[in-house]
Amino acid sequence: MNRIHRSIATALLLSSASWSYAQLEGSKPDATPVNHPVPAIQDTETPAQHDARMQWWREARFGMFIHWGLYSIPAGTWKGQRTTHIGEWIMNDLSIPVADYKAFAPQFNPTGFSAHDIVALARSAGMKYIVITAKHHDGFAMFDSKVDPFNIVAATPFKRDPLRELAEECKKQGVKLGFYYSQDQDWTAPGGSAYKTGSHVGPTFHWDKAQDGDFDTYLHTKSIPQIKELLTNYGDFPVVVWFDTPSKNMTPARAAEIVALLNQHPNLIWNNRLGGTYKGDTETPEQFIPPQGYPGRDWESCMTMNDTWGYKSFDTNFKSTETLLRNLIDIASKGGNYLLNIGPDSHGIVPAPEIERLQQVGQWLKVNGEAIYGTTSTIFDVPTGTFSTTEKGRGNQPKFIPTWNWRSTTKANKVYVEIFTWPNGSFHVDKMPRKVTSAYLLADKTHKPLKVTQNGSSLDIELPAKALDPIATVLVLNTSK
Ligand code: GLC
Repeated sequence: MNRIHRSIATALLLSSASWSYAQLEGSKPDATPVNHPVPAIQDTETPAQHDARMQWWREARFGMFIHWGLYSIPAGTWKGQRTTHIGEWIMNDLSIPVADYKAFAPQFNPTGFSAHDIVALARSAGMKYIVITAKHHDGFAMFDSKVDPFNIVAATPFKRDPLRELAEECKKQGVKLGFYYSQDQDWTAPGGSAYKTGSHVGPTFHWDKAQDGDFDTYLHTKSIPQIKELLTNYGDFPVVVWFDTPSKNMTPARAAEIVALLNQHPNLIWNNRLGGTYKGDTETPEQFIPPQGYPGRDWESCMTMNDTWGYKSFDTNFKSTETLLRNLIDIASKGGNYLLNIGPDSHGIVPAPEIERLQQVGQWLKVNGEAIYGTTSTIFDVPTGTFSTTEKGRGNQPKFIPTWNWRSTTKANKVYVEIFTWPNGSFHVDKMPRKVTSAYLLADKTHKPLKVTQNGSSLDIELPAKALDPIATVLVLNTSK
């Protein structure tokens, strides 16, 4: 069973999960309203208020995910055994006892960490916001928490608060900052939930007695107090809270206690992974792009650049810049955001292949960002791929096989066509629902007009012999409706 199926199998095997990856398999999110014990802002705001609250996020289109924590010390290997799964799950996957895992903390002194450089990297990549793991499933807080001493300030020689340094740099450099928080799973705090892996047995799926305890005690003495710290101690931030892996323990009543906190920060954007029937603001397809997006719903595809969120020393399977750029364009053409992950190592250093790719994507966006930022999805009804008649994909659905000819994004009267496979002679589309008044290539500084031929809805734009970019050349169509 490969890693992806394993993590889906892990989630689906869970008898204790009310949230599962099935929810992310491109299925339409359930729109029926739910009577929440505490109404969330999504239950009470008007559509206009919701649009205003989501505006910056929708315009941003591209963000940086940062998975950085104590798991970067083992970096995928423990006592000579390599994990075959994602690096930040090593404690669960290799059944590392709590005491052994906590013993990593005194080794963690990431003096190579530079908030300035990471925020500058995000900006050079063209990313408009950052979401960093404040506390992952391992329970280790990457911030100065007075709630639990198992944190980077109190338990390590580093003694600095990376979230505070990032918040200061993001304010200086004009990048928005969000926090990922694992509100339900916690593998080192007594009572925290644990998703089943390997031979771990229910109902707790714990592998160390030190993990046993009462979930409400964990919720009230760690999870909720730390969420409060994160919401109040970092100035203008967070603007996003990224919850993860809710289990059956996260009942509507318990989730409502967290929602009551979130409601005190009415501009906050939060995702669909709190649990307790709260849908939040965004769908969160993970490691895939939903073939049709989520019409009528904000969504964000989160992806790794290699195969792990948290650093693994031996995972060098990095996606090409072409793949990353195609993903960004494909996602934007479907109305979504791309949250692309970096995994700093135990010294706080971002792996060079990740820096290289981000800078290359940023180069493209410097020239063509107008076709991504502030755009909405395509106006064309042209399939972007086919569903396999033989192969099954996620959620046992027919596998979607994308084609990489072109995509399109929209901004008012401009229609952008991001062309991957340069056509011979002209760009043609049978059904252009608008009148094209002029056309040019975005990367052509002179915006030299291109010949437009439109007969009814059939459209042809004469193109030069060569593309202007090896990965994607943007054709701009000025239109009237
Ligand atoms: C999954 C993993 C978690 C990771 C998240 C990112 O939920 O459990 O480790 O942080 O995906 O989307």
